[in-house]
Amino acid sequence: MRKLLMIKIPEHMFRRMDESEDINFYKEPRFVQHIDQLTIDALTSFYGEFIPRQATVLDLMSSWVSHLPKENQYKRVAILGMNARELEANNQATEIKVHDLNEDPKLPYSENSFDTSIISVSIQYLTKPVAVFSSLTNVLKENGQICIALSHRLFPTKAIYAFHKLTPSERVSLVMQYLKLAGFKNIEFIDKSPKNSDPLWIVTGINGKHAQT
Ligand SMILES: C[S@@+](CC[C@H](N)C(=O)[O-])C[C@H]1O[C@@H](n2cnc3c(N)ncnc32)[C@H](O)[C@@H]1O
Repeated sequence: MRKLLMIKIPEHMFRRMDESEDINFYKEPRFVQHIDQLTIDALTSFYGEFIPRQATVLDLMSSWVSHLPKENQYKRVAILGMNARELEANNQATEIKVHDLNEDPKLPYSENSFDTSIISVSIQYLTKPVAVFSSLTNVLKENGQICIALSHRLFPTKAIYAFHKLTPSERVSLVMQYLKLAGFKNIEFIDKSPKNSDPLWIVTGINGKHAQT
């Protein structure tokens, strides 16, 4: 069990080698996988348990793959990312949006729209994560859930300083801290790393926004 304190994260942790607009970096589609097949399988299997059937799902920082179980039927799968061609090729999505979360951390969806949100192997690129997760507490339903999957690969010039500097365990604590600062509750860490493959570190939380009302 990790103790989560409300600590302000130093600004320099969010700096990047390449501070130019993200739209340029993601202009060309990348039809590649960012983790090994065994790790993808472990993530898909986790989603199968974590996401209720018939859920409305928001996949943030998405691409041509969402890693959702194929046999599961979801009511809605909205995906948001930086490259239109990648998003258009995602056959699990019911709708797509190109939106730069570093430029505008406010999520372009109505309040109380989603049961579950997922972010896979991309959290290291957010420069204003707490603002994004605060906005997420509005678009998620009460007690809606978030699942953030981390691994160890990154685009070095676009990953924030924290993901270069901190150890894996510290990176997990940082992501848990993002959720705490944004108002999530029941924040947990689960290690689902398969043997001899890319690691899979999962942070989950529950929307705490309407908890006291
Ligand atoms: C390593 S890829 C991971 C894609 C996908 N989630 C997966 O599991 O394969 C990183 C993704 O983060 C998205 N991304 C990076 N910066 C972003 C930003 N500023 N706003 C929104 N999405 C961003 C990109 O569109 C890209 O698809």
